Amino acid sequence: MSRLIEVDVTPGTELPERAAAFLADADRQLDALLAGGLRETLPCFAPSDHALVGRTFAALVDQGLRGEHLLEWGSALGEATGLASLLGFRASGIELEPSLVAASRRLLSDHGIDAEIAEGSFVPDGYEAPSDVGDPDTLNVRDGVAAYDELGRDIDDFAVVFSYPWPGDEELHFDLFAEHAATGALLVTYHGMDGVRVQRRV
Ligand SMILES: C[S@@+](CC[C@H](N)C(=O)[O-])C[C@H]1O[C@@H](n2cnc3c(N)ncnc32)[C@H](O)[C@@H]1O
Repeated sequence: MSRLIEVDVTPGTELPERAAAFLADADRQLDALLAGGLRETLPCFAPSDHALVGRTFAALVDQGLRGEHLLEWGSALGEATGLASLLGFRASGIELEPSLVAASRRLLSDHGIDAEIAEGSFVPDGYEAPSDVGDPDTLNVRDGVAAYDELGRDIDDFAVVFSYPWPGDEELHFDLFAEHAATGALLVTYHGMDGVRVQRRV
């Protein structure tokens, strides 16, 4: 039976200049989207600490994962996906909200970043969360058509998945990864004040 075990990863100290410039531009664009009413569509929208997430990706690259494929679940403006590409991963993101898909594709292209964003859901067709995983009335994972066909890949094609589960959604992300990821793959998750966790599927 598959399960997730905790992996100790110490984030690197500093992001390369190009990654920092990308994040600064992304922050400006996110501010504009929020001022333009993004939370009217996504009331709970919140970004992760992208610098911390990027420094964690850098540590994984240093541990030998350069060139591996990373997938971001719920990629929003594509910050983590873009950072992953700039730091040495092959990178893809999946986002359900069309305005964020369009904005992230534009931002990545503006910075010459080689990463793809698929529009749709990161939840594969047919997945059913166990009854003890999260409260269906408060889960923030929205329904939509799975985006894996657009990517031409399944979850178990990725060496690393990154996600920022909204509080209460964590167990669903963990279960989805345990059910569908490849053995040995890593799940990197951001948890607000509790920082970043890295788990391996065994
Ligand atoms: C908490 S935000 C995190 C954004 C980004 N990953 C970050 O780290 O800043 C969650 C994102 O997941 C997206 N989302 C929610 N349900 C989704 C689904 N089923 N498939 C794809 N994206 C989804 C939301 O639109 C939102 O952009």
